[in-house]
Amino acid sequence: MTETSTETIAAVIDRYSGDPGMLIPMMQDVQAELGYLPQVELKQLSNGLGVPLAQIYSVATFYSSFRLMPKGDHTIQLCMGTVCFLKGANKIAEAIQQEFELVPGGTSPDRKFTFAPLNCVGACALAPVMVVDDEHHGSLTVDSAVELLHKIAAGEKPSRDGESAKGKSKGKGKTRKSAGKGKPPAKAKKKKSPGSNKT
Ligand code: FES
Repeated sequence: MTETSTETIAAVIDRYSGDPGMLIPMMQDVQAELGYLPQVELKQLSNGLGVPLAQIYSVATFYSSFRLMPKGDHTIQLCMGTVCFLKGANKIAEAIQQEFELVPGGTSPDRKFTFAPLNCVGACALAPVMVVDDEHHGSLTVDSAVELLHKIAAGEKPSRDGESAKGKSKGKGKTRKSAGKGKPPAKAKKKKSPGSNKT
């Protein structure tokens, strides 16, 4: 932990008078300042507040807005819904994970990409579908998906070879659940936002 981040945690604790009941706003402030919730800084927060680290992690993993890893420059949301899976999304997932050293929910070592597989994005007619920075790309193959990501990593604005998948098919709605590598997605478990009622 750098001196700066030590000061950040101390300042955040001080800002809320060290009140453990203000844990969530404190975590929000830490993330706003550091970009995510690093392990060492959470430990310092735990020590400073007298709140068990396990409790802080349970809050961090319960709310979808908290990040335990730094976010990449680009977010890859690969659809692992049933139709996309049957059309090869699992092979695309394996290829891009290998090519960019990613794991589901993780960020590549060069911090170019964060990989966030999800369930149906509502464009099944264009399966398999990948959403990169909110831009939909459909009818992908392993090669075209990897090539697309290389172009994005190089700073190019790629033309969409496949049709835009936006609004082309009846959707089932998006979920945040990450799919396991090579397996059909299990039923999604929803995470909440800190604005909702549970901690
Ligand atoms: S299953 Fe992938 S868009 Fe519907």
